[in-house]
Amino acid sequence: MKEELSILVQAQYPLIYLLTPEEERAEQAIAKIAAEKTQHQRVFVWTVTQGIVEYGQARQQTQHNTISPQAAIQWAIQQRDPGIFIFKDLHEFISSAEVKRWLRDAIASFKGTEKIVVLMSPVQEVPIELEKEVVVLDFPLPTMQELNQVLSKQSEKVRNPRISTEIREKLLKAALGLTRDEAEKVYRKAAVKAGRLTESEVEIILSEKKQLIRRNGILEYIEEDETIDAIGGLEELKHWLRQRSNAFTERAREYGLPQPKGMLILGVPGCGKSLIAKTTSRLWGLPILRLDMGRVYDGSMVGRSEANLRNALKTAESISPAILFIDELDKSFAGGTGSADSDGGTSSRIFGSFLTWMQEKTSPVFVMATANRIERLPGEFLRKGRFDEIFFVDLPVPEERQEIFRIHLSKRRSEIERFDLAQLANMSDGFSGAEIEQAIVAAMYEAFAQDREFTQLDIIAALKATLPLSRTMTEQVTALRNWARERARPAASSTAEYQRLES
Ligand SMILES: Nc1ncnc2c1ncn2[C@@H]1O[C@H](COP(=O)(O)OP(=O)(O)O)[C@@H](O)[C@H]1O
Ligand SMILES: [Mg+2]
Repeated sequence: MKEELSILVQAQYPLIYLLTPEEERAEQAIAKIAAEKTQHQRVFVWTVTQGIVEYGQARQQTQHNTISPQAAIQWAIQQRDPGIFIFKDLHEFISSAEVKRWLRDAIASFKGTEKIVVLMSPVQEVPIELEKEVVVLDFPLPTMQELNQVLSKQSEKVRNPRISTEIREKLLKAALGLTRDEAEKVYRKAAVKAGRLTESEVEIILSEKKQLIRRNGILEYIEEDETIDAIGGLEELKHWLRQRSNAFTERAREYGLPQPKGMLILGVPGCGKSLIAKTTSRLWGLPILRLDMGRVYDGSMVGRSEANLRNALKTAESISPAILFIDELDKSFAGGTGSADSDGGTSSRIFGSFLTWMQEKTSPVFVMATANRIERLPGEFLRKGRFDEIFFVDLPVPEERQEIFRIHLSKRRSEIERFDLAQLANMSDGFSGAEIEQAIVAAMYEAFAQDREFTQLDIIAALKATLPLSRTMTEQVTALRNWARERARPAASSTAEYQRLES
């Protein structure tokens, strides 16, 4: 929060690490805080190209001989007046013994004075020597209020600058999650493209935002056309989700309900875990963002992966309420805790920061994670209270298979009376939803090649030709079931579960 920065400055924290890609906005915020203080503080900015320049002064007004970081810190120590000294991108130099030492000297000499060093950088790099002295703070993305200023400026340039409150709110919401520069860019683009800023431009802004988010490569907007009705079985899970359709509304808060935190869907591959997660977006009317954990990891520089994760989570929070989808969590955090630190501990640190975030988040971001295996999943994930619920998705029972056949056949043919669904369900024991779908497709190919319509017999032949995964992986499936029996809630209805135990 920006208030947090203000509090830290008021409280005379001598060393603040401000994480942000938005230098200009952050500088302005600091200058504002400094100006509002009872005892006026001057603000100085250091860059490796200019040295120290007072905030608001021309670039030429640089302090003599302050290009080197050491000299600049020394200069700050020598100042008698209250001041905030912003160092931009000092992370590039911070591992040098001298810079570290000068910073510690500065902290020691600033105690009891009105002097503060702010390290401003898009990446976090704090040497251990400074860990105890520094407060790391994420500079938040623009609020609706700030975006409103950006929007107002752009709307002056269009023909009809008056925007109703309702549309203004939509235009602002559409740009949430962007930096100020990015927001300005999308508003300008929409204004130029359409010559106006009305409700129809919300779409332009949203699609621009999707592009920007896509470009960072870690988060991805997903659009799923299927609805929850395209999934056969899993009644309990569907019921749970349907029941929470309005869980992120103002009304739910007023009622006194807590915001759902997240769910983990665990289970056999090909049984609809990913699909049901994606359809929740439409069911709840919330955007869904996929977090690609593989792309979070960046070995190029220490601290890079953490920064990636933090930025992604920050973006997700800023467009909340939203769903954060982490598919195959077990793969993402493989080699997390417990394993040898083959990657210098990066994955366990990432894992740690993710858990902390989940624990502490107050913004309405619902985490929807799926996993195929449990043995690679760090135990902390499975502890009670981490997720609202852990669901176990098992292979479909006969009635569910019948429904899955019905769904996939109806998708491809309008009249499905000619198929005996009960027979197909009986003949597909041990098949997953994905395998049932594949059998139908295989049958269609077969018939298409012979230039005729596909039939019940084609599907039966395809089923017979398939060795389902559950049969080649019996042990894994059994192990998963045994594990889940006591620790997770069955995603299918309890009658289905009962029948499964009977059979
Ligand atoms: N229960 C189901 N009902 C309908 N289709 C299903 C079901 N389970 C799987 N499928 C089909 O198989 C595809 C792959 O399933 P997916 O959700 O990726 O499985 P998982 O994530 O559990 O491995 C789905 O897109 C869907 O077409
Ligand atoms: Mg999946």
